[in-house]
Amino acid sequence: MPTVEPDPRQRNANVIALANNKGGAGKSTITANLAGALADRGHKVLVLDIDLSGDLRVAFGIDNHELNDEGTSLVDAILDPSAPLPVIVEGIRPGIDWIPGGMQIWHLVQAQIREDFPIATRFAEVLAEISGDYDYVLLDCPPSNPPLQEMVLAATRWLMVPARPDPTNWAGLQKIGPVVRHVRQWYNPHLAWLGVVIFGMPAGASRITRITLDYLGAASGTVPVLNSTIRYQSAAALGGQVNGRLAAELAADRKGETTAVIKALRARKTPAVVSDADRIPASIDKLAADYSRLADEVISRTTAAPAKKRGATK
Ligand SMILES: Nc1ncnc2c1ncn2[C@@H]1O[C@H](COP(=O)(O)OP(=O)(O)OP(=O)(O)O)[C@@H](O)[C@H]1O
Ligand SMILES: [Mg+2]
Repeated sequence: MPTVEPDPRQRNANVIALANNKGGAGKSTITANLAGALADRGHKVLVLDIDLSGDLRVAFGIDNHELNDEGTSLVDAILDPSAPLPVIVEGIRPGIDWIPGGMQIWHLVQAQIREDFPIATRFAEVLAEISGDYDYVLLDCPPSNPPLQEMVLAATRWLMVPARPDPTNWAGLQKIGPVVRHVRQWYNPHLAWLGVVIFGMPAGASRITRITLDYLGAASGTVPVLNSTIRYQSAAALGGQVNGRLAAELAADRKGETTAVIKALRARKTPAVVSDADRIPASIDKLAADYSRLADEVISRTTAAPAKKRGATK
């Protein structure tokens, strides 16, 4: 009979949180596309939307899903230990399950502030009941909400910080440092930096890349900067959001378009899509490849010894 209860948080060893105090840094977009790329590699992935906005479900095109409860079952499971585990919506994509979030998440903040309810400890316990069924669990955080950030990080093994190449995003990164230290001290000594991922990097902009890496190298201290970056691709991003398609799915859609155009031209018919302006941009392939590379790097960094820090100037 063990004398010490196993620490339930250690069972959350496969949990990755995407957080940055700055809004619009790419947290939800990367969560969805990284989940897709990990699932494409045969991994079983669970995604949780810990944001009131519910943006994650927009990225997956499941905003009107019949099982979208705006986070009710997740909130109930955390606040009431006798409640069942949260509803898991299976198969929103092959290999990807989803626990919805949304407006109900606000009740967690209220419980913490008004009643001093230990949402951080409880969330880690609830997630530990579920996380073992998956290869990776991805948590999409709200931009700035200290109680929720603390709660998420208490149940997290790996913290990934998306940051755009602009100084306001870097300030958001610096603000999360104290939260990490606090969580490590009080809740979760296993919390580790997976790294900063640069989101919305202009293609071929070597000067911006250098300035960004220099800044991050100096500002992030011991935080690694990932080798993979996500390129700036606003047209494809908008198309993805409007249609609820991941980058890799849009890349496959574009291939389908091309085949249809060629077929129509060979049959001397007018293709459904003729003009390049009406087509999914060709650069979608490169954006999808960015997420593929990110998935590979995530897999190698979460399964191997920590890689060397990139971006350090000295
Ligand atoms: N590759 C890309 N290049 C440029 N913009 C992009 C790209 N991918 C997504 N976007 C846009 O970036 C914006 C912010 O993305 P996202 O919602 O993922 O950020 P977030 O950090 O989750 O924001 P919030 O803090 O509000 O939750 C969205 O409007 C999206 O359309
Ligand atoms: Mg978001």
